[in-house]
Amino acid sequence: MIFEAQIAGRDEIRLEKDADGQFHLSGVGGPDLLQHLKSLREQLGQPIEQWTVPEGAGLADMLVREVILKAQGKWAFPFCESELCHCRGIPTAVVDSAVLTGAHDPRIVSEQTSASTACGTCRPDVEAIIKYRKGE
Ligand code: FES
Repeated sequence: MIFEAQIAGRDEIRLEKDADGQFHLSGVGGPDLLQHLKSLREQLGQPIEQWTVPEGAGLADMLVREVILKAQGKWAFPFCESELCHCRGIPTAVVDSAVLTGAHDPRIVSEQTSASTACGTCRPDVEAIIKYRKGE
């Protein structure tokens, strides 16, 4: 079973559980992500439920949190449709990428993606993604 978290063309982390229940970790990214990978490798022998889920709102924090929560069966991303903003035709992945790279305010997400710049119906979903990604 494979659990992944990534931002396209940038950082990614992959956790693979083999048939014996052992986890194998790999990833590519900046210094923050590499530091997280080092600390995760120290936890590889422990049950996944005991792994430390990082707090914080940096890109590496959010990606590592995602992959651990997925492996723990606790990942509950708040919006599951592929298109988030129907007025502007903005995919959920575009909004999520903006949040991952630092757009932690709905106004900034709108500036960067055009989501939520027409009827505003999708604004609560943008806010929910921001909150969830930040671990709030
Ligand atoms: S659905 Fe996003 S602005 Fe209308």
